[in-house]
Amino acid sequence: MPLTATSHIIDLATRSHTAALAFNVITLEHAQAIAAACERTGLPAILAVSHNAVRYHGDDPAVIVSACAAVARRCRLPLSLHLDHIEDPELAAEAPELGCTSVMFDASKLPHEENVRVTAEVTARLHARGVWVEAELGEIGGKDGVHAATARTDPDEAAAYVAATGVDGLAVAVGSSHAMTTRTARLDQDLITRLRDAVDVPLVLHGSSGVPETELVDAVRNGMRKINFGTHLNSAFTAAVRDALAATDRVDPRRYLDAGREAATEAAAAQLRLLGPVRPVPAA
Ligand code: G3H
Ligand code: ZN
Repeated sequence: MPLTATSHIIDLATRSHTAALAFNVITLEHAQAIAAACERTGLPAILAVSHNAVRYHGDDPAVIVSACAAVARRCRLPLSLHLDHIEDPELAAEAPELGCTSVMFDASKLPHEENVRVTAEVTARLHARGVWVEAELGEIGGKDGVHAATARTDPDEAAAYVAATGVDGLAVAVGSSHAMTTRTARLDQDLITRLRDAVDVPLVLHGSSGVPETELVDAVRNGMRKINFGTHLNSAFTAAVRDALAATDRVDPRRYLDAGREAATEAAAAQLRLLGPVRPVPAA
C-alpha cells in the first residue's frame, strides 16, 4: 500500500493510549522483517533509518531509504519512513524527497542553547514541507557504546524546549540507554508521568531494547507514545544467523539471511502485539 505518514501512526497510538513502534533498519532484511511483522500482527509500524545506517550505506540516504520505500509499498499494512538520530541539518532536509514523513533531529551533543537554536531552525524548515519532527532533550546514553542510563530530562526544561523549538515529539531520558543486549534497564515511571503532564507533544522512548517488557507496558500506560527498537531485532537476527551458519558449510547467504530475517520478524511482531496501536486496518 502507499506510504503512510508517521504522524498518522502516532495519532492512532495517542487516540488508543498505545504506542507507535519504530524499528531501526540497517539492511534490506530488517525492512522486510518489519513489514512481515506488520502483516503477521495486523498492526502498522515506522521504518527508521539512522544517520549511522546512512553512513554505513556510503553516506547516500537513498540507497537504504528507497529500499525501505519499496518494501513498504509491497506491504499490506501501513508503514511510514523516518530518519533517525540525524545530526546534519542538510540530511534532515532531504526527508521529503526520500519519502520520509518524519525526522528525529539529534542535536543532543550540542550545548543547550545551540541545540535549541539549530533544532528550531531545522523544525521550521521541515514543517514547511509537512514533516513531523522529533528532537531529544537530556542526552540518552549508549550512542557511543558506553551504557549510561543516568541522564534525566527535567519536565520544566522539556516544556520550555518544546515551546522554543516547535518540535512535534520529544525523546526523553528516563532510564533507558541505547544498544543494550540485556533487558535490565529500569525506567523512572514517575518522571514519565510528570513529563507527560508537562509537555503537550508525544513522548518518545529510545534505547527500548534494554527495557523489560513490563516496564515498557507501564511506560506506555504512563504516556510514552513512540517506542524505538533497534538492538532487539539485531540480537534476534544475529543469533539466528549464527545458528544457521553453524548448521551448514553451504555458502549461499540466502540460507542464513533468511533465518535472521525470520527471527527479526518474530521479535518485531512480539513487540507490536505487546505495545502497538490497536487494529488500524485489517490485514489483507
Ligand atoms: O533510535 C533508535 C533507538 O533508540 C534504538 O535503541 O537499539 O537500544 O533499541 P536500541
Ligand atoms: Zn535512539
